[in-house]
Amino acid sequence: MSILKDKNILLGITAGIAAYKSANLVRLFIKAGANVKVVMTPASKDFITPLTLSTLSKNPVFSSFVDDEDDNAIWNNHVDLGLWADLFIIAPATANTMAKMANGVGDNILLATYLSAKCAVYFAPAMDLDMYRHESTKKSFEKLIAFGNKMIPAGTGELASGLIGEGRMAEPEDIVSFIENDILDQLPLKGKKVLITAGPTYEALDPVRFIGNHSSGKMGFEIAKAAANLGAEVTLVTGPTHQSANHSLIDVKPVVSAEEMYNEVHKHFKNSDIGILSAAVADYRPKKVADQKIKKKDITFTIELEKTKDILKSLGETKTNQFLVGFALETNDELENAKGKLKSKNLDLIVLNSLQDKGAGFGGSTNKVTFITASNDVIEHQLKSKAEVAKDLMQHITKQLHA
Ligand code: CTP
Repeated sequence: MSILKDKNILLGITAGIAAYKSANLVRLFIKAGANVKVVMTPASKDFITPLTLSTLSKNPVFSSFVDDEDDNAIWNNHVDLGLWADLFIIAPATANTMAKMANGVGDNILLATYLSAKCAVYFAPAMDLDMYRHESTKKSFEKLIAFGNKMIPAGTGELASGLIGEGRMAEPEDIVSFIENDILDQLPLKGKKVLITAGPTYEALDPVRFIGNHSSGKMGFEIAKAAANLGAEVTLVTGPTHQSANHSLIDVKPVVSAEEMYNEVHKHFKNSDIGILSAAVADYRPKKVADQKIKKKDITFTIELEKTKDILKSLGETKTNQFLVGFALETNDELENAKGKLKSKNLDLIVLNSLQDKGAGFGGSTNKVTFITASNDVIEHQLKSKAEVAKDLMQHITKQLHA
C-alpha cells in the first residue's frame, strides 16, 4: 500500500501540452488509494477535457470561480478546496502560472486555491527549453522554492516543439515516487524497524485439535498500520487471524504456535528499534501432541499442560537499545498487576486493558487502555477505536524516542 492511501490530493493543471499526461497522473493517484480533486486553469481545458479528469478522479473538476448552469450560480470555494487538500501538486506548471504563483496573482481558481492552501505544494514545470532556461523562469523557481514549495524538476528529452532539451515534465510515475519519497523522508519513524506480535496462538493437541483463544489480532494489525504510516519498517509476527495488512512497509510473518512465534520474534528482535508485543500468546500448551486424532473413550479426559516460553520476558532479558512495549489484559488489581509485569519483564511501556471496562479487550473494534511508563507515569485514555488506540501508542513511542 502506498503512503498516499487515503490522502486528499489536489491536482492543479495548467495550459501546457504535458497536460495530456495529467490523466495518467490522476489514475496513478487513485490506484495508490488517494482521494483526488482536480483544479484547472481555464486555458488548460484546450489540452485536456474536464470530463476525462472528473471521470478518472470520480469528483467534479473546478476551472472557474463560478459554475452558472441554468442561472443557478454556484461559487466554487477555493478556500475549502485548499483546506481539503493534504497535498497540492501542480502538474504541468507552466512558466506563466509559476510567475503568477511567485508574485501572488490570483486571477483564476487554481491560483486562488494555491494562495489559500496550507498543505505541502509540489510543482512539476513543463515548457520549451528556452522558456525553461529564461532568467525570469529561474527567478520563479527560486521564489517558489523559497516559499517552501517543492519542485519536481523537468527532465531532458524531446519536447513538443520538436526541440530536444530540458523542460519535459517529469513522467507521472516519477512524480508519484517523488511525492511518496518526500512524504516518507519527513516521517518521524523513517528508517526505524518495528517488530510487532499479533493475534492468538494455537497449541496443537492432535492433528485436528488445538487450544487457542478469542484474540482477533485487530489491535496488533492496527499498531502495524499506525507504525508504517509513520514511516517505520514493520515486521508483523502474527498468529492465525482473518486480518490483512496491505502496506508496502509491513512484512507479515504468519506463525501458529507460541514456540513458532518465539523463534520468529527472536530472528528479528536484534535488528529492531522497537518491539511491541500485543499477541495473546498461550501460557500453556499440551505436553504431548498426539500423532493421530485422539479417540473418545472415558467419561473424563485429562490433558497435561506445560508452560510456553514467555516471549516478552525473553526480549526484556536480552534487549539492548530497543524500546520494548507489552500488553496486560487484567480483570482485577489492574494497575498493580500491570506495573508488576512492566518491572518483571523489563519493559519501557505497558498497555493495560481492563476487562472491567466495557468495550475493552478481545474481539471488538474498540479498546480502552492505560499506558504505564517505566517511570510509573499512568496515562489513561478514553474508549476509542483500536485504530485510534494504535495511533496514540505510536505517537507516545515516537515522542519518547525523540525526547
Ligand atoms: N506474552 C508473551 N509470551 C507469552 C505470554 C505473554 O510474549 N508466552 C506477552 C503478551 O504478548 C503481552 C504480555 O506478555 O504483551 C502480557 O501477557 P499476559 O498473558 O497478560 O501476562 P502473563 O505474564 O502471561 O501473566 P498472567 O497470565 O499471569 O496474567
